[in-house]
Amino acid sequence: MAFRTVGIFSIGQMGAAWARLLRAHGIRVVTHSGGRGERTRRLRDEAGVEELPGIAQVVEEADLIVSLVPPTAAPLVASSVARAMRGSGASPVFLEANAISPRVAREIGEAIGEAGGSCVDGAIIGAAATLPGGCVVYLSGPEAHRIKPLEGCGLRLGFLGERIGQASALKMVYAGLNKGLAAQLTEALVTAQAVGVFEAALEKFREDFAGLMGTMEPFLPSLGYHAARRAEEMDQYEAMAEEAGLRAIMAPATGALLRGIAALRLGELPPGGGEGRLTAFVERLAHAGFMRVGPSR
Ligand SMILES: NC(=O)c1ccc[n+]([C@@H]2O[C@H](COP(=O)([O-])OP(=O)(O)OC[C@H]3O[C@@H](n4cnc5c(N)ncnc54)[C@H](OP(=O)(O)O)[C@@H]3O)[C@@H](O)[C@H]2O)c1
Repeated sequence: MAFRTVGIFSIGQMGAAWARLLRAHGIRVVTHSGGRGERTRRLRDEAGVEELPGIAQVVEEADLIVSLVPPTAAPLVASSVARAMRGSGASPVFLEANAISPRVAREIGEAIGEAGGSCVDGAIIGAAATLPGGCVVYLSGPEAHRIKPLEGCGLRLGFLGERIGQASALKMVYAGLNKGLAAQLTEALVTAQAVGVFEAALEKFREDFAGLMGTMEPFLPSLGYHAARRAEEMDQYEAMAEEAGLRAIMAPATGALLRGIAALRLGELPPGGGEGRLTAFVERLAHAGFMRVGPSR
């Protein structure tokens, strides 16, 4: 059955992309932004999302709720939604679409299930700017088929299996590689800048690793704003590895590098800049004293 009203928590970059896509297909999109910042409210208004007075109203009016928040906020959103479900008796489908460990996904699934709802584990692989088309939304869990109507909006869906946690596990493995490569490239370019071979290094990387650079050049500058959330993803990766009896080695290092960037509070680079955007980002890092031994400027 097609969804008529979708509730999204919250309208950040990915939430806004979902909202625009759903609204373009005639679906009403609602949210509650209490406690959120100015950027979220601006994105909500730009995407034409309807503000409702509370989480309870969103749960009562929506037939699908999508959670799109940083990893540490995912259990908070799920428990608020579960509380609202218990209070109202409403039971929209809950799509847990965040970068979290499989164990956290299972705990969220249990909380939603105990409240009478149906939870679907989801993992979005691809950038918000490429939704739809370039993103795949992987799904798992016994109720995953209930998300199928979203194919009608042009979303690419991938069904992984019957267990909650499968989609989250794939997202984590992908994030470990993607963010790890980004961290390694950031370190190489900042170092290249410091030792005076930046242009030559960039040219050689582009020549020898064309595919990688094609993916990473637009991705790296986004770390200025998203590094903190991506560092949290590496914590989730570590937790997943531990659950599997493994000790992650690269994920903690990636997390440490991302936390170093987040601490600089660079914020979003203005749009545009083409090929020079990566250079501008590395220059901003260098100027802020990233990786410098001793006090940063
Ligand atoms: N952006 C992408 O290209 C991309 C790609 C693939 C997957 N994703 C996934 O999409 C999800 C969201 O990422 P994003 O890029 O949209 O991040 P974002 O732009 O930082 O947005 C995160 C949103 O979550 C809100 N939030 C933070 N804490 C919250 C809480 N406790 N309760 C409710 N809302 C809360 C934030 O509000 P305030 O900041 O106003 O507090 C903001 O609106 C993540 O799970 C990420 O893995 C994103």
